[in-house]
Amino acid sequence: MIRTILIVYVLIIIATVSILGFRGDKTRKEPLYLFPDMDRQSKFHPQGENPFYDNKMDDRLPVINTIPRGNELELAVVFSEDYSAEDLLNVELQTGRDAAGEWATDFPIDVTRDVIEMGKVKYDIFCAVCHGLAGNGQSVVTSKGLPAANLLLQNFIDQPHGEIYNTIAYGKNLMGAYGDKLSPEERWAVVLYVRALQRANQGTMEDVPDGMKRELGI
Ligand code: HEC
Repeated sequence: MIRTILIVYVLIIIATVSILGFRGDKTRKEPLYLFPDMDRQSKFHPQGENPFYDNKMDDRLPVINTIPRGNELELAVVFSEDYSAEDLLNVELQTGRDAAGEWATDFPIDVTRDVIEMGKVKYDIFCAVCHGLAGNGQSVVTSKGLPAANLLLQNFIDQPHGEIYNTIAYGKNLMGAYGDKLSPEERWAVVLYVRALQRANQGTMEDVPDGMKRELGI
């Protein structure tokens, strides 16, 4: 009786070790596929190689006048009659870098009062909690001890527009990304508003229009 129990015990140990013991081991051998389903099929991989195309890459730009699935585009805009793929293929608008791969130093959107005001609305919603309504880094969050950059400092004034755009889209160091909350146009509008805050902070008496000086009694 004891012998039988011992033998069964040893067999169970051998079975357990041989089934579970090698889990996670790496091997270059093809695994045994009982039901292959569609596990192995030719397909494009992110950043994969592809001898078929001239540039030998799997990654493709969207075909003109088509809309890639699974992006943050507004469906109502994408399927509207006057939609064109131009915006989607505008590298500077999407990435903040110019054709040479350098940070953009101009704005790929129309700079109008409406856009600046839209930028203010978005800034006040998404950025002010940390960077403060004035952009000076004085905010609810910083008052609790979390550091957030003072956007009015000279080094941020000197940053190209595209670099700030990139920080908004992808985040930087401690700061999270806002690319999923703000469309490319909205990110640029926020960059524009940050510029407005920086300019306002450098304002002098010269900037006050004459009519207003009288009004303010100065
Ligand atoms: C949750 C807090 C938080 C929010 C919200 C936030 N930021 Fe930041 N931001 C930070 C922190 C923290 C840093 C400093 C990052 C570091 O260098 O570690 C920073 C840094 C920056 C910088 C400087 C990056 C650099 O080059 O060093 C810019 C520009 C900036 N934020 C813009 C924005 C804008 C525009 C928004 C709104 C879309 C925003 N931030 C929203 C926390 C925040």
